Amino acid sequence: DVVWVVIPAAGVGARMQADRPKQYLPLAGRSVIEHALACFTGHPSLAGVVVAITDGDPYWAELTATSLSGQGAVHTAPGGRERADSVLNALDYLVDTLQVTADAWVLVHDAARPCLQRADLERLLAVREQCVDAGALLAVPVRDTMKRAQPHSLRVARTEDRDGLWHALTPQMARLGVLRTALATALAQGATITDEASALEWAGLQPLLVEGDARNIKITRPADLALAEFFLTFRSA
Ligand code: C5P
Repeated sequence: DVVWVVIPAAGVGARMQADRPKQYLPLAGRSVIEHALACFTGHPSLAGVVVAITDGDPYWAELTATSLSGQGAVHTAPGGRERADSVLNALDYLVDTLQVTADAWVLVHDAARPCLQRADLERLLAVREQCVDAGALLAVPVRDTMKRAQPHSLRVARTEDRDGLWHALTPQMARLGVLRTALATALAQGATITDEASALEWAGLQPLLVEGDARNIKITRPADLALAEFFLTFRSA
């Protein structure tokens, strides 16, 4: 099997209130995105990486000029308006420029998730045979009690049954052809697409949930950086 990695990294990260997009913030001696890329570096099953980058992104230029050189083939595609647009651009790049075939696998991983562990990556790669047409994603079961608010209000309408509810993480995995068609169709039809699985679901597919490690957090708010630093520092503990 051919397996490619796509990293959407064209977000601005407004909720971080930082001076630069969150994927470029310093974390344990490197930037967040360098940690995200390092999860895949040197993995024998992976053909390469396509990173979706905002046009003229000065932070990416700085990285490629320094630390990323010598890391092997890291391709770039243009970022889009939303995360799904960025992912679709990267898939188009795989097809149109790199001539990757539709039956190749693609792993989509957020640039803002620096704490992915190899064991989780292996667990996801291992289910390829079980999800040939539907795809799969890392996820963790919901632990807190979930409340549904009344529309436009902070009053509780009801408690949702958390049994069977999962947090969707990344990487999310699917065949290149299946995912590209699903994303393009869902976007053209105006669906709200916040991850790859939601595009596959929109196409009527049922992606497979693969239980992952809860430390694979997405950097969203300032406190997440401290948490990620802790996880990376005590990884072996
Ligand atoms: O903002 P959020 O945390 O949902 O972003 C998830 C990932 O998608 C981040 O790595 C971000 O850089 C990326 N993204 C993107 N293009 C956008 C918006 C977000 O590649 N237009």
